[in-house]
Amino acid sequence: MELNGARILVIGATGVLGSSVSRAVHAQGARCALAGRDPVRLRELSDELASSPITHFEALNKDSCYGAVTDAAQQLGGLDALIITIGVAAFGTTGETDDVVVESLFAINTRAPIALARAATPYLQDSHGTLATVTAILADYPTPGMAAYSASKAATSAWLTAFRREQRRFHVSVFDIQPPHMETGLADRAIGGQAPPMPRPACVSTVVDQIVLGLSRDARKLATDIKSGQLLLT
Ligand SMILES: NC(=O)c1ccc[n+]([C@@H]2O[C@H](COP(=O)([O-])OP(=O)(O)OC[C@H]3O[C@@H](n4cnc5c(N)ncnc54)[C@H](OP(=O)(O)O)[C@@H]3O)[C@@H](O)[C@H]2O)c1
Repeated sequence: MELNGARILVIGATGVLGSSVSRAVHAQGARCALAGRDPVRLRELSDELASSPITHFEALNKDSCYGAVTDAAQQLGGLDALIITIGVAAFGTTGETDDVVVESLFAINTRAPIALARAATPYLQDSHGTLATVTAILADYPTPGMAAYSASKAATSAWLTAFRREQRRFHVSVFDIQPPHMETGLADRAIGGQAPPMPRPACVSTVVDQIVLGLSRDARKLATDIKSGQLLLT
């Protein structure tokens, strides 16, 4: 897709990855709408990015997901891309991870992205646009001590694969972004358990550069080579 002038809704724009992606696509000339749940940080980012429109939303509320997309599409006059960067992590063995945590992981990491994508589909079909969703390396490499977190991301990734095939005839691109571990503080904000020792983190700006490149090339997937740690865009 051509980023210059593109109408892009970033969901989770106040997050570390979400704010970096918002800045990066704005720098390429995109017109962003910023969606999140923290009004103060949203306003600050909007001020930084040429008064980009903002929309408040809560991932646990399905109506709020639909409302955020409709509101942003109205403010931008359509949508060329929806970039979903929300997510939460949880750690612990399967025995330690209780049902409430599992439910929250799937609500935020799986159900909300699906609802957001479904809400955006008519706009993306109109523009032959792009759905980009951040899953995680765990989608392809489910990891002990993170079973439910891995499963919530793998489910989203599977949904994206089927959605891509459905949308091909409507010329909608689907980009599954599977970053490796990055030092964003996500693990410290886990909704359950304690993070185990993590591998050496990837640099957020390197990942964001690959996301921007992937968007511009209509890539299908950003993956990580598990041995070398190298990011792979396909
Ligand atoms: N960091 C990593 O190592 C890593 C690796 C692979 C994949 N990822 C994925 O990358 C994405 C971004 O994560 P990050 O590392 O940038 O962490 P982050 O800064 O904590 O970003 C998470 C985002 O999700 C939002 N969020 C969480 N619960 C929400 C809810 N109930 N309603 C609305 N928004 C909610 C947060 O909103 P607030 O700003 O209001 O808290 C924040 O914008 C996530 O999907 C994560 O799973 C991260």
